Amino acid sequence: MAAALQLDRVSKTYGQMRAVENVSLTIQPGERVALIGASGSGKSTLIRLASGLILADRNGAGSGAVHSFGVKVQEGGKLSSEVRSARRHIGLVFQQFALSGRLSVLTNVLVGALGRMNALRGTLGLFNADERRTAYAALAEVGIAQHAAKRARELSGGQQQRVAIARALVQGAKLVLADEPIASLDPKSAKRVMDTLVTMSRDHGIALVVSLHQVDYATAYFDRVVAMNAGKVVFDGPASQINAAFLTELYGASAEELILPSQFVVPAPADAAPSTQTVS
Ligand SMILES: Nc1ncnc2c1ncn2[C@@H]1O[C@H](COP(=O)(O)OP(=O)(O)O)[C@@H](O)[C@H]1O
Ligand SMILES: [Mg+2]
Repeated sequence: MAAALQLDRVSKTYGQMRAVENVSLTIQPGERVALIGASGSGKSTLIRLASGLILADRNGAGSGAVHSFGVKVQEGGKLSSEVRSARRHIGLVFQQFALSGRLSVLTNVLVGALGRMNALRGTLGLFNADERRTAYAALAEVGIAQHAAKRARELSGGQQQRVAIARALVQGAKLVLADEPIASLDPKSAKRVMDTLVTMSRDHGIALVVSLHQVDYATAYFDRVVAMNAGKVVFDGPASQINAAFLTELYGASAEELILPSQFVVPAPADAAPSTQTVS
């Protein structure tokens, strides 16, 4: 089976700034990967490149290609003609809660799933019973069915992130890219959102890439960690290899930003496997 995500020598330059430099990366279907790195290391740029929200630099032959499940997203600095069908199975979750605050939670799930063309239909509430049932089921799965009729802006940040996850489910995503989904949340909400993401991935075989700038969550929830520094992938391997000494080696002084204070313990994942690891 084709990779859930394949990046081939992808770079992105802003002026003089090499935001992403020659990154190649393969994520298998159903695989879960944490993307770590200090702020400015290129995580968001990489996720935006992967989903075709921005174009890579136009480099040499065969470079700058992004494929998802065998469908081309972009190559050589050009969007693929297949990008819409590629995006159909890529769910996105952002740090800032990207919902329409004025619309109901249910409508947000439905509109997101149907795409922009149908936004008007969504605003008018023109969904059939089947679509509504599917959306309710997804909201139930992420534990917020009781809030379906509320306006999205009435929900807490953590609840809004779970709406975004429900939207990816209804969309039928086979790959979910979450860019710092817990950065704006308190630890309890952060845990719920991480649990929800991982459970979604497990139960539906959805590949999951989550960027995080604090490492403790990465090692508690993921087996594979990809670490970025200054636009480059500086480590790609088992989470078990990540510890404070290794981070200091990778990042020098800026490692501090990636390590939570020692008194802070990441809450254990819901169905705790290795978990409760903290960087010591
Ligand atoms: N739209 C942009 N214009 C100019 N520079 C950008 C833009 N987006 C990101 N950058 C720069 O690219 C680098 C990587 O940024 P980003 O991918 O946002 O990192 P991270 O998500 O890891 O914090 C940073 O130096 C940032 O300032
Ligand atoms: Mg970012």
